[in-house]
Amino acid sequence: MNKLSPAEKDFFKYIDTFYVRSVSAGFHLWKKEKATKNLFRECTNNFKKFNILDVGCGWGSGIPKLCNELSDEAFLVESDISGQFLYTASRRSYFKGYQNVHFVRQNIQNGLAFRNESFDIIVASAVLEHLMEPIPVIKDLTRVLRMGGYLIVHLPSPGNIFGRLIRLVDRYISGGRLRWFALEDTPPESTLEEVFKEHGALGHVSELSYSEWLRLFGENGLKAIRLERGSGLVGEHPAIDRLYPLFALVLLLEPLLEYMPYKYLFCRDFLLLLKKER
Ligand SMILES: C[S@@+](CC[C@H](N)C(=O)[O-])C[C@H]1O[C@@H](n2cnc3c(N)ncnc32)[C@H](O)[C@@H]1O
Repeated sequence: MNKLSPAEKDFFKYIDTFYVRSVSAGFHLWKKEKATKNLFRECTNNFKKFNILDVGCGWGSGIPKLCNELSDEAFLVESDISGQFLYTASRRSYFKGYQNVHFVRQNIQNGLAFRNESFDIIVASAVLEHLMEPIPVIKDLTRVLRMGGYLIVHLPSPGNIFGRLIRLVDRYISGGRLRWFALEDTPPESTLEEVFKEHGALGHVSELSYSEWLRLFGENGLKAIRLERGSGLVGEHPAIDRLYPLFALVLLLEPLLEYMPYKYLFCRDFLLLLKKER
């Protein structure tokens, strides 16, 4: 591996503080990492050595860090459709000194280049909703997951209470202005947009409801065993950063929302831990 240039080092430091520039984004990332860690702890308790696949890893999500923290015997494969993202992820991994991380470029929509039952844990974080056809990919992920292994998915929660409230107010009171004020959609990061253009990959084209995802996973022998809220009630957005009172209210409500039934209704996105049972 070539030595890191000062510019590369600066870039990786920038990535690490990327989300700190916005309080709502920082909070969103912190919650997502905490939830992922909880699910990871739950499944890594069952293995001493483990093989992990992280599909659609982007420019290096928190998974290599988690694997290194949890065990020095974890073998991790980071994969993405984008060579640009994979290159950044591999250099970043080198910068951080992570061990046993391997990088594979592939379009998961065309089938996974791994043998049956190769992995103990598979992570698909913020990926399935970007696929035109998630069903064959879920089938293939299940194929390469070993019996009793775990799939961790991170998905948007389109039916969340906050989104419904905005739609209701817009429909009867504000005439679409609230939604326009951007409480609905976070603009894509520019690099992600470039990758999507380059590969003909897409935005959230398969934003299914919680129950639809559960049905798809269930039909493929994956049983949901734990649900975590992946973000706060309103997610991340510059508009939220400007509305300090709203953001403060959200922070105050957060601990209560963790105890609500149907948790997926009280967050912009959620994480599910699924176990392969057949
Ligand atoms: C929203 S990013 C998520 C990145 C990372 N997993 C995370 O949680 O921060 C979606 C990633 O999925 C990748 N992706 C999109 N379509 C893909 C496909 N068909 N095959 C493999 N990767 C894909 C994109 O290149 C991008 O890195």
